[in-house]
Order: sequence, then structure tokens, then C-alpha cells
Amino acid sequence: MSDNKKLSTESYKGVRDFYPEDMAIQNQIFSIWRDTVQKYGYQEYGASILEPADLYRAKSGEEIVNEQTYTFTDRGEREVTLRPEMTPTVARMVAARRRELTFPLRWYSIPNLFRYENPQRGRLREHWQLNVDIFGVTSLQAEIECIQMAHEITKSYGPTETDFEIRINSRKLMDYVSRDVFSLSDEQAHKISKLIDRKNKLPADAFEASAQEILADKTPIFITLLNSKNFEEFVSNLPQTKEEHAGIREVKEVIAGLESLGITNARFDQTLMRGFDYYTGIVFETFDKNPANRRAVLGGGRYDDLLSLFGGDKIPAVGFGAGDVTARDLMETYNRIVSATAVSPADLSLAIIDEKQTGYANDLAQDLRNQGVRVAVDYSGKKISDQIKAADKRGIPYIIIIGETEATSGQLTLKHLATGDEQKVTQDQIAEIVSK
Ligand code: HAM
Repeated sequence: MSDNKKLSTESYKGVRDFYPEDMAIQNQIFSIWRDTVQKYGYQEYGASILEPADLYRAKSGEEIVNEQTYTFTDRGEREVTLRPEMTPTVARMVAARRRELTFPLRWYSIPNLFRYENPQRGRLREHWQLNVDIFGVTSLQAEIECIQMAHEITKSYGPTETDFEIRINSRKLMDYVSRDVFSLSDEQAHKISKLIDRKNKLPADAFEASAQEILADKTPIFITLLNSKNFEEFVSNLPQTKEEHAGIREVKEVIAGLESLGITNARFDQTLMRGFDYYTGIVFETFDKNPANRRAVLGGGRYDDLLSLFGGDKIPAVGFGAGDVTARDLMETYNRIVSATAVSPADLSLAIIDEKQTGYANDLAQDLRNQGVRVAVDYSGKKISDQIKAADKRGIPYIIIIGETEATSGQLTLKHLATGDEQKVTQDQIAEIVSK
């Protein structure tokens, strides 16, 4: 390679490099996720980034498959996709071992996912996503548990109960509206759900014109339904039947179940559709009310039919995905980010005055490491004042300067960098002090 053609240091469009300070934040997010779901008894699983492309064709939805996947043909002529989501993978894994597994299953994973999106705030081409799913429970307790965890996780990013909301809808209810209220065919019903999904992205007149094409003279009642201010108003705009529709009952029960757990920020949202075709019941997303964060923080729902695509009996499933990008945006909005120096790489730095003391420093370091102290030896050969500055900048709390006197006498001075306090110590006293 010639000198004037240097390689770019930029990463691929829409993906991120994680420098140590970013990794500290990433680990903070992962800890929130793990701590929360483990409290509810979820077990971790994992899988490869690569999946056969066919896995996504059946039920993920056209937008994901046609516009957002990274798909290529491998050397054996197989079509391969970098996973854009984890749900088809986990469905495949559970279906494969359906006979051996003990249901209900509570599983979680933190995969990185790839979607060919227009990179923007809250949306990138690679993100990490907590996936939490419960298999084998038909009762609405599964939805309530998932939304409870979703609520806890969103709250851990910083917003209070009133700063964010949980939006809930029901695919069952929306299917009932499409088929029974508007008498739409499957294809028209699908079109309407995709149109509702785009409601907030379209100007009102364009939205109405598209609705008109599908619904003709039923458009006004459709618009009235979509504009209903709350659940009661929405229900009162539906044709009244003797028996309450299951979709209506489920929304009511989930919201009431959450309220009994002290969760008061869940509300019905008839415009919440969620992009994936596999959802069959309750769907939900959480949203921060701060206008800086317009994207859903997390989202999920019930998908009772997905696992039967792999053969065998139906296995009911509910779950959600929470992304790291929106998590970090919220944590920045609500000042919850840890500074990189708060996560120090070592407890103690050993500064060396002269190269000759390197052997002594290495022996001391190794002895302390064996006692569980994290020790970094400074081999830079720089001035002592610079070695001190470097340790401080990295957030290492303690330093010992090693010169000839220290190396020969074993009498050391332990300095606490934040306070400047110094104390004389011997080798065997150090571990106890710095590990406090
Ligand atoms: P999703 O709504 O596509 O659902 O993604 C869930 C969350 O992942 C989003 O709310 C957002 O936090 C994050 N996310 C999604 N795409 C991106 C992106 N391009 N850049 C940054 N963050 C993103 C699913 O993926 C479902 N499979 C979740 C699920 C699990 N449903 C049931 N179980």
C-alpha cells in the first residue's frame, strides 16, 4: 500500500467502535438488564449471528426482510442473513428441543443485531438488544410479568414513573376491528395495520387518502376510532356487542394487573401496531416523554403461533426486546451515565523511577495480584510527575513510586491520588488498604 493511500480510521456506516469509556457504559447497561431479568428467574442463552435467510421470510414482516437485512450468499451457495432480531432464533431453538425442555421457560439473551437502517438518533445498523421471553404460558400473567420487567428496566435508565409511559395495544382487538367491524380481507387488514404503523410518519391528509383507498366510505369511522382519546372512548366507538371481545378484555386485564403492582403509567394506544407479523395478542412499547427521545425505548408482545412454524404443537410465547442505543440516549438525558474513571482499570499503579527497578516492581505487582489486587506497572519511562498524572487520568486510586531506596529497603509510600494522603507501608500491608 502506498503512503498517500492511508486506510480510513472510520468505522462502517451506522455501527460503533466501543472505546473503553463506551464499553464502561455498555457494561452498565448490560448490568441493568442482567440484574433485572435474573431477579425474575430468567436463564441466559446464545446463538450465532448467522442464520439461514429463510428463517425471516415467514413471519418477520416485509420491511425487515426486504429492506433491512444484510443477506449474502456463502461459498456453498446458501443464503445467509446477519440476524436482524433474535425472536426467530429463539423460536427455532425452543422448537428444536420442545420435548426435553421444561415449560414454562424463562430465557434471556443479549445479542448484537444488524438492520440496514438509515442511521439516526436511536437507530443504527448494529445494536445490542436484551431479549426476554417466556414460553409455555397462555395466561395474561406472562404479559404482566414482561411489562413489569420492561417498566423496571426503563425506570433504571433514569426517568420517573411520570417521565415515561407504557403503550399497550392488542393485535386481537385490531384484527377484530379490521375483519368484523370493517369486513376487510386478510390482505386489506394487513395493509391497514401497516398504514396505522406509519400514522405518525405521514401527514394527516396523505394518511386519510391511503385509508380511503382501503376503506372507502368506512374511512370516517376508522379515523374516529384512531383519534379516540382513551380506551373507553375507543370502545364506545365500536359497534356494541352482547359479549365483550377478548381483545378488549385482555387490554383491560393487563392494565388492571399492572395497576395492582403499582404501575400506573400504562395506557392503551390504538396506533401501536409493531412491525412484526408474528404477534398475535397484546403488544407494548415504552416511550420516554422527553422530546429528545422520540423512539420506542423497548417493545414486545405475545406471539403464540411462531413456534408452530417449526412443526409440532403450539407453544405460547411472550417477550420483548430492549436496545442499547435508546438505553444510552435515556441515560444521557437523565444523567445516569457512569464516567469512565469511575470504573478504574486497576487499584494500584506502580511508578518506576529508573529502569533498574523494573524487576522489583514486577515481583511486587505479581505478589499483590496473587492477593487479589489489580496492579498496573508503568513502563513508560516518563517523568514521575507524568506517571502520576497518567494514573490519575485513568482513575487508578493509588500509586507507589519505586526508586532504588524502595527497592532495596522494601519500605514503600502508598499515595492516595484523590486526597494526596501518603502513608508508609510494607509489602504485606498494601492489599488490605487498597482493596477497601
Ligand atoms: P423491535 O421493536 O424491532 O422488536 O426492537 C426492540 C428494541 O430494540 C427497540 O425498541 C429499540 O430499543 C431496539 N432497536 C431496534 N432496532 C434498532 C436499531 N436499528 N438501532 C437501535 N436500536 C434498535 C424486536 O426486535 C422483537 N424481536 C422483540 C421481541 C422479543 N418480541 C418478542 N420477543
